[in-house]
Amino acid sequence: MENLNLIVPLVILISVVARADPRTNMVEHFCEKMTEKDASKFPIHNYSGFMDGLKEQLGRDKYVSCTIGPSLKVYVISQCMEDLSDKECRVCFSQIINVLANCFPASSARVYLDGCFIRLENYSFHEESIGSIDVTKCGQDTEPEQVFKELVEEVIKNIVEKAPMDERGFAVFKETRNGISAYGMATCWRNLDKDMCSECLNEAASSTTSCLPSVEGRVLNAGCFLRYSHYQFANNMQFSKNESHAQIWLYITYAISAVIICIMAIGLGFFVGKVTYRKMVFRKMQKESEMDLSALHKSLQFLQFKYSTLERATDSFSESKKLGRGGFGEIFKRILGSPGFAQARNPIRSAPPLPAHWYMAPEYIVNGRLTEKVDVYSFGVLVLEIVSGVQNNKFQSENCFETVVTNTWKHFQANTESEIIDKSMKNMEEYRDEIERVVWVGLLCTQESLVRRPTMTSIVQMLKQKDTPLPLPSRPPFMDEWMELMSPSAGLASRRQSLQKSS
Ligand SMILES: *[C@@H]1O[C@H](CO)[C@@H](O)[C@H](O)[C@H]1NC(C)=O
Ligand SMILES: *[C@@H]1O[C@H](CO)[C@@H](O)[C@H](O)[C@H]1NC(C)=O
Repeated sequence: MENLNLIVPLVILISVVARADPRTNMVEHFCEKMTEKDASKFPIHNYSGFMDGLKEQLGRDKYVSCTIGPSLKVYVISQCMEDLSDKECRVCFSQIINVLANCFPASSARVYLDGCFIRLENYSFHEESIGSIDVTKCGQDTEPEQVFKELVEEVIKNIVEKAPMDERGFAVFKETRNGISAYGMATCWRNLDKDMCSECLNEAASSTTSCLPSVEGRVLNAGCFLRYSHYQFANNMQFSKNESHAQIWLYITYAISAVIICIMAIGLGFFVGKVTYRKMVFRKMQKESEMDLSALHKSLQFLQFKYSTLERATDSFSESKKLGRGGFGEIFKRILGSPGFAQARNPIRSAPPLPAHWYMAPEYIVNGRLTEKVDVYSFGVLVLEIVSGVQNNKFQSENCFETVVTNTWKHFQANTESEIIDKSMKNMEEYRDEIERVVWVGLLCTQESLVRRPTMTSIVQMLKQKDTPLPLPSRPPFMDEWMELMSPSAGLASRRQSLQKSS
């Protein structure tokens, strides 16, 4: 967080850069007036209006390039040094307006001030980096120390390399040794590309050093401006190796880093919180499900019999006690007299341990209540498994709540039971009615309402007397979940429809 404090010095730094000298000092100017014949066709009629327009644009962009006129054309570029503020740029250009006032209508004009520049021609000069009237201006005072010469050469080398790489074509640099300093500034007019800028400044560099040991030197080329001096002439730009732009970028980097760190910290905190919360919820659910499992386990113990008990109960699994064969083994009949079993007459399945909850009636899973109707439910599941040839726990569906039972119910409602009948069954067409009756019975056995499930006795009657009408089954358990997932509105309406259809 404290890194955010860096924004304050950043703002201060920018405002320091912005406060300084517009450098309206005249360096050089050229002017060539038009002939009287051409002057009549000169496209700029309102000099001050035109120049005011340039000034406004220059104040915004620090660079203007334009072409005026239908037949006789005037080409203009103007630029301020990058270290000038918008306001300083306008002040500097006002000086240009004064200087050029007596020069119009000009066929060719250039004004070099220390802070700004204008060039105007009757031809396009945008490809010119060096021209025939380029000049070098050397200061009158000299610096006799040899070190100054070295410093100037280092500074110039630096800015000549850097400026073409800068998107504004601008560079400043400073070197200090033995209490002596050298300052440099290079700028290309923005109409030049990188190579032209480099060409212009390299030419300027060799011209400037010819001024040494003069304390000051300027080169005024067609495409660029280069200056060195023994004093800091630019506007509080930092002339060190870590010059201002690098410094500003450093601060910006700090600020951005700080923001990123903050965001990451908040994100991490949120993540840790979420994970902790999930763990808590998971532990709670785990605990609950453990409790559920132990309750289930306890109730299952009712149904687990010693082999010896079963042997006794079924007369050593005798054929006379055999009811039939199910998916999990043979079914024997036994009247159980043991205490704890309220229903004395129970067909039991002799495949301990009991199959999974796929065969258990919901009320048994929920409260462990063992009734005859629990077995009826299991029988129904078994019947539907046999008819469809699919084991309930192996049932494949996109919907995780769907089982053989719910799937059969769905097809029963839609009158498409034939679709779920085991394809490997022979003579299917011949026994179609019978098979569908078995499905119907299976659904009656697996109704959610245990009261509506038939007794085993009536089931046998239903299967034996194939002509007696069957009651309509109500829905199986777990349909709510299933319905919610598939189509919330489909349920009741279609069920009613199918009830009418089948009656
Ligand atoms: C020149 O343009 C300025 C606006 O920049 C306007 O105020 C002035 O009236 C114009 N002068 C003429 C002679 O059109
Ligand atoms: C530009 O002006 C000069 C001097 O007035 C003239 O000699 C030259 O032909 C002009 N060039 C163009 C392209 O008009």
